[in-house]
Amino acid sequence: MYRTHTCGELRLNHVGIQTTLSGWVQRVRNLGAMTFIDLRDRYGITQVLIDENCKPEIQATANALGREFVVRISGQVLERASKNPKLPTGDIEVRASEIEVLNAAELPPFTIEDDTDGGDELRMKYRYLDLRRNPVKNALILRHHMAQEVRRYLSDQQFVEVETPFLISSTPEGARDFVVPSRLHHGKFYALPQSPQTFKQLLMVAGFDRYFQIVKCFRDEDLRADRQPEFTQIDCEMSFVERNDVLNIFEGLIKHLFRFVLKIDLTEPFRLMPYAEAMAKYGSDKPDLRFGMEFIDITAQAKGHNFVVFDNADYIAGICASGCAGYTRKQLDELTEFVKRPQVGANGLVYIKHNDDGSFKSSIDKFFNANDLAAIGQAMGSKPGDLMLIMAGAQRKTQTALCELRLEMGERLGLRPKDKFAPLWVVDFPLLEWDDEAQRFFAMHHPFTSPNPDDLHLFGTNPGAIRANAYDMVINGVEVGGGSIRIHDAKLQQTMFSTLGFTPEEAERQFGFLLNAFKYGAPPHGGIAFGFDRLCSLFGGADSIRDYIAFPKNNAAKDVMIDAPNVLRPEQLTELSIDICPDTKE
Ligand code: AMO
Repeated sequence: MYRTHTCGELRLNHVGIQTTLSGWVQRVRNLGAMTFIDLRDRYGITQVLIDENCKPEIQATANALGREFVVRISGQVLERASKNPKLPTGDIEVRASEIEVLNAAELPPFTIEDDTDGGDELRMKYRYLDLRRNPVKNALILRHHMAQEVRRYLSDQQFVEVETPFLISSTPEGARDFVVPSRLHHGKFYALPQSPQTFKQLLMVAGFDRYFQIVKCFRDEDLRADRQPEFTQIDCEMSFVERNDVLNIFEGLIKHLFRFVLKIDLTEPFRLMPYAEAMAKYGSDKPDLRFGMEFIDITAQAKGHNFVVFDNADYIAGICASGCAGYTRKQLDELTEFVKRPQVGANGLVYIKHNDDGSFKSSIDKFFNANDLAAIGQAMGSKPGDLMLIMAGAQRKTQTALCELRLEMGERLGLRPKDKFAPLWVVDFPLLEWDDEAQRFFAMHHPFTSPNPDDLHLFGTNPGAIRANAYDMVINGVEVGGGSIRIHDAKLQQTMFSTLGFTPEEAERQFGFLLNAFKYGAPPHGGIAFGFDRLCSLFGGADSIRDYIAFPKNNAAKDVMIDAPNVLRPEQLTELSIDICPDTKE
């Protein structure tokens, strides 16, 4: 028998019994007369004692152990003389009567401790060792609990989990596809799904009524902290629903997860914010509502003072940072540097200090007298002690930069704690986006997203103003999910395709199977997909989704552990009729 208990199990009530434990050697401490081994498995750490009461050969075996050796140790459970309140097993230790090395281990390339000395790349290369560390292990256990609770809630709500294929042709999500060459069909390729979008709609036509799937999706796009080329969605679809039915069910799912995974009761209904409001107040369609600091548009007050930057701008707006009027020159310069970074993209930053004595001091004193500054202060609702930070330029670009600055100030002021959660629904997205280069509209979500019924008349006159019957769930500035009510009416779908510039033939070629299915009785339907990795990292209080994925890719989309992607053998290429152009070889 390898073990009678786990390394996280023994307590004072076990004192006196014989036990056998198996696990990894975390550390050996030889103190002369006594040697201690910290023995670790998934469940915890138990201290093993070797002292003068143990046979001499045990002492010798113990002293020959190295980090990460796999051992089986038997012995008696004792109450510890000096207890360790930090360890759940800290009241006891096991005096070894037998130690058997099950497997020796090479010295690991980094320490298997909560705070490791291993850099990112090294830990990715030896991911199986990284996964032995508590923070990473616990992240995956949290993910497991989340998945269990998702299945419990959705099954209770009559959702059926159905698997959909991975070897398909292109899906309409708008990123680049990963493709798989077909051996049997010369020159043809499968595409991996960017989401099961079309299949879940077909399941509605099939009458499944409520579908879900915890499913891998594949998108060949640039990586960021919250983006992986393969990631997991909680993908869902429902029939005979309107927008609010979908919002209710999935607000319920998220509240269920908070309740049963984090023990947090979110009692308030989630706020519904139109896209236009989110952009105007926060410069983003995924606002972080843990704090205020909303944008104030001061275009009217700020123009006409011979300050060219303002006079030439379409849009002038600012935020008011409470208690920051004392910012030093250096701090203000830092903020200016911050907004000028290419990722933020602003040309500069204007500040107005609303001093404690009520006076104003600004970087634009040359153009604005005390009264002018006070007028801006009034428009921005500033109080003594506040620092107003103002940007000007083209509207969208300025909003985006101001959004970054707002988040940065929120961070500096400690207004974005990881254990505070501010969920909301963003609704009324534009249905279409105009692309100047292509001189045509693109679907902001996908071509099956239904327009807001109140805006149908705009198709002929002003398609850009049509609102979509679409919604995103946002928590703490992270888009955790998004979906829409779909078009189920053939005529409306035709209008949508022609607005998007598809000829009937193109629509038929790309989506013929779906349009055909819709001829056989498509119920009104809608759905949503949550980014499961994002939800897990948010619940775990992390910034990156990587630690919530057992074997993630690095920033260059590589798996450095298994060395993927990799070249194929020449005979594999021949079988697939693929010729690699020499200049594109790595
Ligand atoms: P969407 O494209 O908005 O919608 O994706 C849904 C959610 O998936 C997450 N997500 C990602 N997570 C990690 N890495 C990525 N590369 C990545 N891309 C997206 C986000 C996002 O909100 N078929 C539609 C859903 C629907 O309409 O029902 C879809 O896929 O959290």
